[in-house]
Amino acid sequence: MKALEDMAERMGISKLILMENAGLQLAEIIKKRYASIPSKKITIICGSGNNGGDGLVCARHLLEFSDDITICLLNIDGKLKTDEIRTNWNRINKIKNIKKIEFFQNSNFLDACKYEINRCDIIIDALFGTGLHGNLKEQFANVINQINKSGKSIVAVDVPSGLSPLDGSISGDVVKAELTVTFHKSKDGLLDKDEITGEIVIVDIGIPPELENNL
Ligand SMILES: NC(=O)c1ccc[n+]([C@@H]2O[C@H](COP(=O)([O-])OP(=O)(O)OC[C@H]3O[C@@H](n4cnc5c(N)ncnc54)[C@H](OP(=O)(O)O)[C@@H]3O)[C@@H](O)[C@H]2O)c1
Repeated sequence: MKALEDMAERMGISKLILMENAGLQLAEIIKKRYASIPSKKITIICGSGNNGGDGLVCARHLLEFSDDITICLLNIDGKLKTDEIRTNWNRINKIKNIKKIEFFQNSNFLDACKYEINRCDIIIDALFGTGLHGNLKEQFANVINQINKSGKSIVAVDVPSGLSPLDGSISGDVVKAELTVTFHKSKDGLLDKDEITGEIVIVDIGIPPELENNL
């Protein structure tokens, strides 16, 4: 995916465009799938990389669908990792109708996240996607546990957080989603992991298929 993204960028299709497409498609799927639920409170748990960025874009595209959207941004290193998430965080901060909570290393984020997780109807997991490597720190594992315990509808962005997109291995804790919206094409690690991924929906984000020939 990284190679495809780089090739698309060289054609003038920037990572910011791909992120916008990803977040928009994700929001469209959520709107259709949850159209009939009576209450539509949404909590989006974002990490500090581009998976989190997808969650931020999705929030903007859900504004007509829900008037109660909260973003919990887990910026534990105090540094958003990419230009794309930084751009989208700046955009989100200009929107008054979205509640935003940014957590840093020493903040007691578990309690605040727990509150937002338990009062919503839909949780969007945008913590880690294809950028996950190694074991999860305890702080993230605790949030994942809260998400799984909540009994809410859980939608994973691209890959459920904690699941390796490469081989499906699990580094301790993993989000158990009822729906995984994955971008461009499925990832090997999602195969035969229904109890973690739930239903998988693959969405087009505008990467020209012919670029696959150059891999
Ligand atoms: N490929 C595309 O065309 C495309 C297009 C649109 C959107 N996206 C989105 O971008 C995502 C990938 O974004 P990304 O590469 O920025 O990575 P990410 O999956 O968003 O991960 C975020 C960051 O988490 C950190 N991290 C990794 N493992 C960790 C661990 N065990 N504990 C704590 N922190 C950890 C990494 O930072 P460090 O390396 O500094 O630890 C990584 O930069 C995709 O899954 C998709 O959602 C991709």
